[in-house]
Amino acid sequence: MIPTPHISLTDKNLIAKTVLMPGDPLRAKMIAETFLTDVVQINAVRNMFGYTGKYKGKPVTVFGSGMGMPSIGIYSYELFAFYGVENIIRVGSCGAYTKDLNLYDVILVNEAYSESSYAKTMGLTGSKVLKANKTLNNRAVKAAEKLNIPLTVGRIHSSDVFYNLKGSVHEARFNEQGCIAVEMESFALFANAKALNKKATCLLTVSDSLVTHEATTAEERQKSFTKMMEIALEVAIK
Ligand code: HPA
Repeated sequence: MIPTPHISLTDKNLIAKTVLMPGDPLRAKMIAETFLTDVVQINAVRNMFGYTGKYKGKPVTVFGSGMGMPSIGIYSYELFAFYGVENIIRVGSCGAYTKDLNLYDVILVNEAYSESSYAKTMGLTGSKVLKANKTLNNRAVKAAEKLNIPLTVGRIHSSDVFYNLKGSVHEARFNEQGCIAVEMESFALFANAKALNKKATCLLTVSDSLVTHEATTAEERQKSFTKMMEIALEVAIK
């Protein structure tokens, strides 16, 4: 069933088995330009840019997911179900729920906790917690060790709401569930991987703290982002 409603590509061989998904499509462009060789653009529908190129000689695709679970839900489903993609690694940012995390720390998600109805609505029996793939995570841990990049492994909250009205009360509630940070996509990605028997995980850099209310500058974000990308790319080519 290709092309799909949201991806115009008609040759599925132009998509690699492993896809890195940043939220921002322009970040996908930047990743392709910075880290990959032999780059071809594979999507522009709705400006959700995707690119395939080579990292250390091996094919890798980078594709924007958009923000939030409905958006990553659509793109990751179409890539998994219709374009033969086997592995998706989300590369994103998150807000810290604990003072143990510093800005720019890199997190490897092992579980996504969510109040979202995404999994239930799609027909998966309703758990509030979905797991990242162990094989991908083992590779990420090894890659981080090799690259000498400290990695915090933990459960995150995939939230449906960026602007919640309850502030710290809300944050404490999810922190009590063991969530160390908040983002808005992993739960839907993991639900699709589970439904379609594929592999997914997520690497995050801490871009702001909901405890200390510090936030990163664009330049500093870029640096920590590079560390996370090096891990993700090593996982992609293993
Ligand atoms: N909330 C939700 N998603 C996020 C945040 C946040 O504070 N920071 C980065 N992604």
